[in-house]
Amino acid sequence: MKPIQVGLLGIGTVGSGTFNVLTRNQEEIRRRAGRGIEITMVADLNVERAREIVGDQARVVADAREIIANPEIDIVIELIGGYGIARALVLEAINAGKHVVTANKALLAVHGTEIFAAASARGVMVAFEAAVAGGIPIIKALREGLTANQVQWVAGIINGTTNFILSEMRDKGLDFDVVLKEAQRLGYAEADPTFDIEGVDAAHKATLMSALAFGIPVQFDKAHVEGITKLSAVDIRYAEQLGYRIKLLGIAKRRDDVGGIELRVHPTLVPAKRLIANVEGAMNAVMVQGDAVGTTLYYGKGAGSEPTASAVIADLVDITRLHTADPDHRVPHLAFQAGELRDTPVLPIDQVRTAFYLRLRVADQKGVLSAITSILAASDISIDAVLQRESNDGENQTDVIILTHETAEGAMRAALAQMQALPTVLAPIVSLRKEELA
Ligand code: HSE
Repeated sequence: MKPIQVGLLGIGTVGSGTFNVLTRNQEEIRRRAGRGIEITMVADLNVERAREIVGDQARVVADAREIIANPEIDIVIELIGGYGIARALVLEAINAGKHVVTANKALLAVHGTEIFAAASARGVMVAFEAAVAGGIPIIKALREGLTANQVQWVAGIINGTTNFILSEMRDKGLDFDVVLKEAQRLGYAEADPTFDIEGVDAAHKATLMSALAFGIPVQFDKAHVEGITKLSAVDIRYAEQLGYRIKLLGIAKRRDDVGGIELRVHPTLVPAKRLIANVEGAMNAVMVQGDAVGTTLYYGKGAGSEPTASAVIADLVDITRLHTADPDHRVPHLAFQAGELRDTPVLPIDQVRTAFYLRLRVADQKGVLSAITSILAASDISIDAVLQRESNDGENQTDVIILTHETAEGAMRAALAQMQALPTVLAPIVSLRKEELA
């Protein structure tokens, strides 16, 4: 059978990895897919550089629309990124009857509903394994491997840049700003790292996982997003003393008690003994808890040329295998059949329930602790552990660290406002959420 013909839009880091792996493993991939897969056209604004990568094996053009208009092309890979031109080209490719493979989490988290509907209407597939956690096959795990389960929650380290920064802050006791500069110097963080450090990239990925886990539409606008920019080394140290590590987690959790879904990204205390707490550097890991399977963990590289190419090519093989299948009986884009998505709401942050770590800078005088604990008790917030550092000579002030049991975010915010108003609380209170992940 004639090889399936692929057009590649954008041949940067992931695109060149895709081209190289597909060429290197061509024979094995053909044996797996049942048919050869060839990138026969590449579109990139930098035509010269693209030609250097592909040699005479593929035709290079500057205009992506030449690929979309070519009737020989079966699959379009979109590796341009962003919401602008990428959205237009993906929709045009779908309307031209091409299957689409994309690594673009931002595009799908924000415009996924429109894109998947267009693909279903046209009878083509949109595959996006590379959009979440790079080389880790988490989309396939959620959509296929765990399909028997009612997923209870998904929690992941899904941004390598921030995990690298947090690991360095812990190892070296350095503050965020210092480590960010070092990460940029070493190439672990982008020159403009905003999407990574503010938690936006992780929220795009968590949004996609929430849809696959719970059969709801992709709704990035409902996600609660906090990054790591305000995190200080001292809280990482106190957390360590209490047996916890701080990780930026993307969490999607079923809340049957209120008929909703929690969808949130924020720095989180995780027990140090959990495997996920020991995922260091730029690595990614995702935990999924299902009612039948229990807790599962997926670990690997979340970025990089060939790890991400591994996911892109897995999608090419899937599409090649399914190309001839009846469109109504393919694996659905979001794991649940398109007409079966629920309108279960993503809960407002006030209704989210977590335990908390609090750090209060207080005057070292009698009655301070009891005033704080009284406010927590009156707010129905139960204390799990308290740590008080001895004040340094002549300092007359100290840190009180409190771990609470699980409570509603709204109750905690009200209690925090009351505690902050105490004259003996001398600085803004630091509050971080804590998850046992058991
Ligand atoms: N910038 C992302 C990260 C990789 O640091 O993990 C691509 O999503």
